[in-house]
Amino acid sequence: MSAAPTETARGVGGASGKAILVGEHFVVYGAPAIAIPVRGRGVTVRLRREPGPWAVPAAALAHMTAMVRHLGLDPDALTVALEATLPLGVGLGGSASVAAALVRATGVADPVEVQRMAHALEELAHGTPSGLDDTTVAYERPIWFRRGQPPEVLAPRALPMLLAVTPPGGSTKVAVAGVAAWRAHNAARFAAILARSEAIAHAAREGLVASDLAAVGAAMNEAHELLSEVGVSTPTLDRVVARARALGAHGAKLTGAGLGGAVLVCAPPALAPDLEAALRAEGAEEVFPV
Ligand code: MEV
Repeated sequence: MSAAPTETARGVGGASGKAILVGEHFVVYGAPAIAIPVRGRGVTVRLRREPGPWAVPAAALAHMTAMVRHLGLDPDALTVALEATLPLGVGLGGSASVAAALVRATGVADPVEVQRMAHALEELAHGTPSGLDDTTVAYERPIWFRRGQPPEVLAPRALPMLLAVTPPGGSTKVAVAGVAAWRAHNAARFAAILARSEAIAHAAREGLVASDLAAVGAAMNEAHELLSEVGVSTPTLDRVVARARALGAHGAKLTGAGLGGAVLVCAPPALAPDLEAALRAEGAEEVFPV
C-alpha cells in the first residue's frame, strides 16, 4: 500500500525496553544470555522531514543527532521528537530502544532489518555491543542469545517479574570496560565464571520452559553473585536484591550493565505490594511489573 503524500513526510516508530534475565556482561565473551522485553514501557520517536525544533531530552540530543546522521539523514532537515515511558540509562535497553524506534520511524518494519540497523547505531553508543539489547528490542520476544549466532525466540509462560529502578550509575561503556579490566587481572577466575554463567543460562532456560520459577530464581540469584564478583554491582543494588530475597522472591539480580540502575525480581504477584514498599525503602525510585 503506498502512503499518501502527507504521510511520506512523517514517521513514527516505537520500541519497548528489555530486561536481561541472565548472562549480561558474560555474553560479551561468548556465553549465552536470555533477555525479555519490558512490555508497557518504551520509547516513541517521531520524525518530520522538515526543519523544526527538536523535542529530545538534552542528555540524548548529541547521540540522537549522531544516529540520524549515521542513517544518512540530514539533522538540519528534520524535526525529531523522543518520548519515553521507559526509564533511560538504567539497564533497561534504553539506547537500543531509541535506536530501534528511530529506525522504525524511517519506515523499516522487518525485525531482522531493524536489528541490523539498530545494532549499527548501538555501535555508536557502546563501541562493541554484543547485540543482545538490539536483538531483544527488534524482536520484542524473549530471546536466547549467543554472540555471532542467530537468536532463538523462546516462548515461556508469563513470568511474574518486577523491576525496581535505582538511580543510574556509570554508562554501559564504562561498565563493560570495568569488566574487561577485571578480566585482565583475573584471567583464570574469569574463565571459571564464564563457564558458570553458561551453565546458569541453560538452567534458567530449562526453568523457563518448565515454568519452574524456583529454578529461574536460583539462576538469577547466582547470576547476581557473579556480576557482583566482576565489579558491576553496588551497595544499593545488593541491598535491593537482598531485601527482595528476604521477602520471599524466587530470585533477584541486577539487570543490564549495572553500576546502578535496575534490579529484576522474580516473585509471586501476591508479594508485589510488600516488595514495592520495601524496595523503595532500600533506594528504588520506581517499581513496576515487567
Ligand atoms: C547491556 O545491556 C548488556 C551488556 O552485556 C553489554 C552487551 O551485551 O553489549 C552489559
